Amino acid sequence: MTETILLVGGGGREHAIAQAIAESDQDVDLYACAGNRNPGITALADGFETLETTDPQAVCEYATEIDATLAVVGPEAPLAAGVVDALDEAGIYAFGPQQNEARIETDKAFQREFMAENDITGCPDFEVFTDLDAACDFIDEYDGDLAVKPRGLTGGKGVRVIGDQITAEEAKEYIQESNYEEFVLEERLVGEEFTVQAMVSDGEVRCAPAVQDHKRAYEGDNGPNTGGMGSYSDATTALPFMTEEDYAEAVTIIDEVIDALPEYKGILYGQYMLTADGVKVVEFNARFGDPEAMNTLPVLETDFVDILVAARDEAPLPELSFADQATVCKYAVPDGYPIDPSAGAKVTIDAESAGDAKFFYASVDERDDGIYTTTSRSYAVVGVDDTISEAEQIAEGALERAGTEGLRVRHDIGKPELVQSRIDHMSEIRR
Ligand code: AMP
Ligand code: GLY
Repeated sequence: MTETILLVGGGGREHAIAQAIAESDQDVDLYACAGNRNPGITALADGFETLETTDPQAVCEYATEIDATLAVVGPEAPLAAGVVDALDEAGIYAFGPQQNEARIETDKAFQREFMAENDITGCPDFEVFTDLDAACDFIDEYDGDLAVKPRGLTGGKGVRVIGDQITAEEAKEYIQESNYEEFVLEERLVGEEFTVQAMVSDGEVRCAPAVQDHKRAYEGDNGPNTGGMGSYSDATTALPFMTEEDYAEAVTIIDEVIDALPEYKGILYGQYMLTADGVKVVEFNARFGDPEAMNTLPVLETDFVDILVAARDEAPLPELSFADQATVCKYAVPDGYPIDPSAGAKVTIDAESAGDAKFFYASVDERDDGIYTTTSRSYAVVGVDDTISEAEQIAEGALERAGTEGLRVRHDIGKPELVQSRIDHMSEIRR
């Protein structure tokens, strides 16, 4: 039987998902919808519709029109808007959690309260505040640094960490002057961050190797937080600064979450801080990471569509197999990203010349006369090889050939010096 799959979303992560679907041995017709025309996705899809992906009715109408047998939702905003609920309701199985389960990402207060109530391992101390004056008093009284998190979705850009990005005084100003109405204040975690993404259906969990993203905009981990500037994974499930036991701990935490959320389906993404006291949870996301999907899907040897079909049919999920290879992903982003991105700039990208690297278009818009930037990340290259440093060199070669005029890249990601500094940082913390 031919599967007709609707992919929702138009970023780099969704281009990587489209590629994984296109590489399936199953008979697949792929359709996609997004707010932007991602040329990588339109090239792989049998049909494409520009629409507002947070409009459940619009997505459902398109899914019905193409007779979709399955849907995959890439970004968090449609999950938060109830797109999965609407598709499921219309009889079109969507690989993604419904609105209620997606709160594990979309509502940071829910996420922490859920962890506390269910005794999930690795929850930092936290308090939730609707009274902003009380939040500021808490900052004054708390013994130690805090992370300040608006309750809802902020695209990874709303969190401020005292003692890292800002002072306590600046944090209080941020709370009083921003338009957010509710905040989670939590213990600042110190260590190295990593991500584990799991495919989940019917209480079953299948985890991918760990990935490390780079949130800060500029080299040397400076500047504001972004959606992620690039990421790497190793040829094993752990990363060079962590042990296999740390990875196993992260997997256990995902298992605990799914035990407490048996209805959950789709991707569960654990963002962790490896600290002196072990693995702690920074947050959960209800979808693949972007960029992390571009590390994980290219080394996934299991047929991605087999996983989707098994999830829909409530059949046992296949065990996942990953190539024993390292990956390095680097994003090219518009000048000024994330604070004042030069959206609407025409860019010349030579995707064909990426050579032995994988090339993923992200939040660019293809128009009749060329490709234009949006306010978000433009394209990514991914090197895959036996070691992180070989993969890094492949990614750099591809960036040079593809061209980065008018765009900015964190060249330090995946370089031996930066990876070594992570190892050194962790051994200092664990001493
Ligand atoms: P989030 O949107 O919750 O992923 O937060 C964005 C980034 O803020 C994370 O990737 C961390 O770098 C940082 N962060 C969030 N929570 C904490 C915390 N409790 N301690 C230290 N850093 C944090
Ligand atoms: N790379 C971080 C995220 O996808 O949220």
